[in-house]
Amino acid sequence: MEIVLSGIRSTGNLHLGNYFGAIRNFVKMQEEHTCFFFIADFHSLTTHPAPEDLFGSTKQILVEYLASGLDPEKCTLYRQSDIPEIPELYLLLNMNAYLGELERCTTFKEKKSRQSENINAGLLTYPVLMAADILIHRASKVPVGKDQEQHLEMTRNFAARFNRIYGVDYFPKPTAFNFSEQLVKIPGLNGSGKMGKSEGNAINLADEPEVIRKKVMKAVTDNGPTVTNQKMAEPVKNLFTLLKVVSSPETVNFFTDKYNDCSIRYGDLKKQLADDIITFTTPIRKQINELKLDNDYLRKVIDNGTDKARASASKTLKEVREIIGFKKF
Ligand code: TYM
Repeated sequence: MEIVLSGIRSTGNLHLGNYFGAIRNFVKMQEEHTCFFFIADFHSLTTHPAPEDLFGSTKQILVEYLASGLDPEKCTLYRQSDIPEIPELYLLLNMNAYLGELERCTTFKEKKSRQSENINAGLLTYPVLMAADILIHRASKVPVGKDQEQHLEMTRNFAARFNRIYGVDYFPKPTAFNFSEQLVKIPGLNGSGKMGKSEGNAINLADEPEVIRKKVMKAVTDNGPTVTNQKMAEPVKNLFTLLKVVSSPETVNFFTDKYNDCSIRYGDLKKQLADDIITFTTPIRKQINELKLDNDYLRKVIDNGTDKARASASKTLKEVREIIGFKKF
């Protein structure tokens, strides 16, 4: 039995990228492993949300986790800011995290250019906080999408460095995990890049059918193939990637054949894609709308999750403090 952990930033709604990159794996893993899933609300502070939005997005992510199939009876579900052991481990790990490696991190470089007016220290040390999230439960498997691969590599470096400095074999070296072996990257609808909360190219699990239809119909394509078996350009390949995750193999084959013999009409492809996304998201959206109203249940889930997460986190932190040399007078 592995210790599994994963988290999602509490910024905006969950989208198809989050679901197919990460949540789908969480839902399977909770059946047979010791699983910790949390809402990364400290991480979301790097973009300075307004106080009223911070709680709203955290609640929304909790509701969407539950609606997607996370079962609080089978896993430990909690909010990062309820576990004070996480920021303490973050502080300790920061002492052995170096400016050069943090500055070289791809997501830091991206954020630096995207929010040039707000390059705060939290952005720089984002991977250290993420390592603290994982190492606080000594997790070994982390179900995430391809975009988190480098953060996991940094976590392994921090873990190995801690073990080396103190001459212990304490932290495991956690790996990014996906059932289908390769990590997933779900593309956005704007022709290039990944689907993301801040990219404005996402289909959210909570989107109403008409919103989904509008977004899909507006997706970028090209002028269509002119020779048989033509190589697909990025925007069209992206639509097929989405089709593969929500539609049946027959549907995928049908449109692939039409593309290959140049008879494809992108309007038909988009209509089918929108229908299949709506079929997939409708039961989740219904659950989201019901759970949103049940504050008593949500409070119970979080209270329970906090107790279980703190029990595990405080054990690790006590051991880490001893290894580092903090002793009682
Ligand atoms: P976040 O909130 O950006 O994304 C949450 C999860 O969704 C996956 N994901 C995708 N997968 C495939 N295709 C996409 N287009 C796509 N977009 C998002 C991400 O890989 C991730 O698994 N830093 C993390 C949150 C975090 C965390 C952690 C994760 C904080 N601490 C500890 C794991 C372990 C983040 O910002 O994810």
